[in-house]
Amino acid sequence: MASPLRNGVRVSGMTPQLILVVGAGGRENALAWALARCRGVEAVWIAPGNGGSSELPGCRQLAIAESDQAGLLHAALEHRIELVVVGPEAPLAAGLADRLRAAGLAVFGPGAQGAQLEASKEWAKALMVDAEIPTARHWPAGNRDEALAVVEAVGQPLVVKADGLAAGKGVTVATTLDETRSAIEEVFSGRFGAAGARVVLEEILEGPEVSVFALCDGQRLVLLPPAQDHKRIGEGDTGPNTGGMGAYAPAPLLDAAGLEQVRQLVLEPTVTALRQRNIDYRGVIYAGLMLTAAGPKVIEFNCRFGDPECETLMPLMGPELAAVLLACATGRLDQAPPLTIVAGCSACVIAAAEGYPGTVRQGDPLQIDLAESDRAGQGAVQLFHAGTRLAADGRCVTAGGRVLALVAQAADFDQAFERAYDGLSQVHYAGITYRRDIGHQVRSR
Ligand code: AMP
Ligand code: GLY
Repeated sequence: MASPLRNGVRVSGMTPQLILVVGAGGRENALAWALARCRGVEAVWIAPGNGGSSELPGCRQLAIAESDQAGLLHAALEHRIELVVVGPEAPLAAGLADRLRAAGLAVFGPGAQGAQLEASKEWAKALMVDAEIPTARHWPAGNRDEALAVVEAVGQPLVVKADGLAAGKGVTVATTLDETRSAIEEVFSGRFGAAGARVVLEEILEGPEVSVFALCDGQRLVLLPPAQDHKRIGEGDTGPNTGGMGAYAPAPLLDAAGLEQVRQLVLEPTVTALRQRNIDYRGVIYAGLMLTAAGPKVIEFNCRFGDPECETLMPLMGPELAAVLLACATGRLDQAPPLTIVAGCSACVIAAAEGYPGTVRQGDPLQIDLAESDRAGQGAVQLFHAGTRLAADGRCVTAGGRVLALVAQAADFDQAFERAYDGLSQVHYAGITYRRDIGHQVRSR
């Protein structure tokens, strides 16, 4: 039976019955798991997923790469998908959402133009300046000499950022002028490929960082509880930056009034500025904020959920999540049921592979002794695979930097982290690496 059209998009009801999640990380498994739990959802496909995707209740896996636009479109039509949720930034920046929408599919995730919020730091900065969104002062530069001249003129150490997508590795927070200069040399040495063709220099801000996620239908916003990531590899927040070693939510750094301030100062002006650029942004706006003495300031925007913030937040989402994401995709958040947020504290710890964030060992078999209900995420503990794959013999082996996310909820953070670490102690593979101090800001023991 043909489904009716809503805003030009084919959907059969408020809740999508068949969903496709695109991506291969812990974030995508968490999204798929949360969507599959929503009332009315029949099945969630994950493409390409990883070694844990097909274990999730209600989820199935498709071996199609996130870069294979034609393959994903074909699969979405073949499986009568009513909502596509795109997890990572690279396919968004490459225009996957545009391609799928052009074929009449409902997609949660911005088109290539909107994805510039993340894919070009210079473009995002220009938007923030136009919209008077609080952010660090900045100086874009197109070559080494121009950038070095900025350093001489400003006379202070600066943050040096490769303009394009560099998988979170294109940023140096310099502590001296010399470090600033050598970071500039590094960007223009070609280390970041096309992402380093231009550079953005920024004044250094100080304060705690917090991630805020807004679900956007092109016009309206639903804010999720703030989350705190742990970017550094080492305990005590030391060592090189990673994709994130753990997280917790709701982050008490931002209370309800603080979140409302972020909505008014940052998120609403962003949507207005996007609309002024004729961008109908349907997806997540992720504001990475620094809470400075002068108020919240934007460090960066991303066009997708954070990882591991997503794994942390998904267990707190109510059963309306699928309907809300569909409403974002169809531009009708005004008709969606309110998104319930489960009370309680959520804690997430990442288990990485030896060597992360550098070159990692891979191919080590995993032994998971967690109870079946925890593996399936049926209680207060969830295991989300990230860098894993099923080997030819059917065994699950490590296959990436961040291997697993162990997530748990409880009435307070002490208990939530106790549960998460207890779960982690039941996961084994050679070279397992994790921080024992995730959530130190909110734990008393
Ligand atoms: P980004 O990829 O832009 O999020 O930057 C990565 C990390 O660098 C951020 O999470 C911050 O810890 C740090 N950082 C970025 N910009 C600034 C800034 N203007 N001042 C201080 N730290 C920054
Ligand atoms: N956890 C930070 C990010 O996803 O960019």
